[in-house]
Amino acid sequence: MTEQTIRFTRGIPAVESFTPDQLAECAKTVLTKYYETILQYAPSRGFQPLRQLLAERDGIDQQRVVLGQGSLELQDLLARVLLRPGQAVFVEAPSYDRTINILKRAGGQLTGFPIEPDGVNVDLVEAALKNDARPVLFYLIPDFQNPSGAVLSHIKRQRLIDLSREYNFWIVEDSPYRLLRYRGQPVPSMFELAPDRVLKMSSYSKLISPGLRVGYMVAPEAIAEQVAKWAEDTYINPSYLNQAIVYDYERRGWLEPHIDDLKSLYCPRLDAMLESLDRHMSGLAAWQKPEGGFFIGMTLNGDVRARDLLKRAEEANLLLTNGSSFFPNGGGDNFVRLPFCGLTPGEIEEGVARLASIVTTF
Ligand SMILES: Cc1ncc(COP(=O)(O)O)c(C=O)c1O
Repeated sequence: MTEQTIRFTRGIPAVESFTPDQLAECAKTVLTKYYETILQYAPSRGFQPLRQLLAERDGIDQQRVVLGQGSLELQDLLARVLLRPGQAVFVEAPSYDRTINILKRAGGQLTGFPIEPDGVNVDLVEAALKNDARPVLFYLIPDFQNPSGAVLSHIKRQRLIDLSREYNFWIVEDSPYRLLRYRGQPVPSMFELAPDRVLKMSSYSKLISPGLRVGYMVAPEAIAEQVAKWAEDTYINPSYLNQAIVYDYERRGWLEPHIDDLKSLYCPRLDAMLESLDRHMSGLAAWQKPEGGFFIGMTLNGDVRARDLLKRAEEANLLLTNGSSFFPNGGGDNFVRLPFCGLTPGEIEEGVARLASIVTTF
């Protein structure tokens, strides 16, 4: 078959969003200005000026900020620090597949709670807690969730925070897509609502470049201290050069206009995906209609086995992620994650058309 392969697999930024010339300028500046620090071994919490900048933004002490090689690495460290094998962990279902793996690898016993258009079903969470479930933490992606695209409503955020206080668990708020809102109004972050109960994680991967591997965590000081110690014993310190480049990019005031550029690039791609879905998938599936982020989550009607779906899609040169990998307790065979930022509107249209013709074979 000679058709172009369309990859609905990975949630990656568009290559044309990268700004190599600006980053080269930042690299040159920081290698001149900070070379004694950034080329040396250094404290594991990360490049101090960037930690300070992030701390000032949140009005907190910089000791609470830990930088890592992407936020995923910090998630791994956090799981090792907070979890003991066999302890309960709550997640959304579906949730980010790599975090599910990290939490399971740390021995967590995961329970997934279904996602609705306004985020996780809090009634079911409350019922589980009343039924004596005792999670150590609840991992949530409240803004433009990966993989569903859902945004957790303000009222549900507040209810979950109230529950976290009553039943004494941590909320881990992972929000790498929060600033990529293409329309509509933002909802207060969970960290803003409860900075004492919420550990915030985010990243520059979707805003500047994932290759730089610069992510961060804001945690209560005692937890930040433990994570920093574990980090030090594991890799001494993350790459200060990359963190300094990000810092300089921020300091020059380049991030905000760049985010505006990203919105101009990605919003038409979101619209192309929504229009293609209306055109080809009506009556075949139900899907979220997000106002930002990287993904649209879709549930196919009828009886679909993920393995068969993936195979038939591959035969049509369409690559899909296995939907069941996003579900911690099984299921998800008929769930499809559709990333839209790294594809052109033409590829999106072609990919959805191919998907529709495959789905009708079930
Ligand atoms: C929800 C979520 N968290 C974390 C990550 C990993 O980000 P990073 O590149 O900062 O490690 C991703 C990447 O896709 C993600 O979707």
